[in-house]
Amino acid sequence: MEKTFTMIKPDGVKRGLVGEIIKRFETKGFTITDLKMMSISPQLAKEHYKEHTEKPFFNDLVEFITSGPVVAMILEGEDCVSQVRTIVGSTDPQKATPGSIRADYATTVRFNVIHASDSLESAIRETSLFFEEQETLQTI
Ligand code: PPS
Repeated sequence: MEKTFTMIKPDGVKRGLVGEIIKRFETKGFTITDLKMMSISPQLAKEHYKEHTEKPFFNDLVEFITSGPVVAMILEGEDCVSQVRTIVGSTDPQKATPGSIRADYATTVRFNVIHASDSLESAIRETSLFFEEQETLQTI
């Protein structure tokens, strides 16, 4: 069994897509082991996206991800990291596979509804940024 980290972004929360997105993961067979709605501080946003610090879109990304509440989740299941990325779809919704979350609900790389860890290493790092060890039901 593997775990991964996902976060429904402020646009997904504002548009009322939380239930629909959770339904897709649960229907597929993944288990939510931890979930919370929260606001992200600029400090957390910069740490989470630190590999993109030098990118021209970095400030826009930080501004957007701190613009409203997000829903952070840990999902568990077989090959969870890669399977969840498939369900989420490509970063650019225009290139996302039809039927994926981003293909169905997003239009731009900036407002693309959800984040999902791109590797097991990222999942572990991002989980520890968003969840205190004592608040998780099970550790990753
Ligand atoms: S890269 O350059 O390929 O490494 O970046 P990419 O994987 O495409 O995107 C990384 C995250 O940055 C977000 N992004 C943007 N935000 C705001 N404005 C622009 N122009 C932009 N381009 C990319 C993108 O949604 C990715 O967020 P996550 O949460 O990782 O999906």
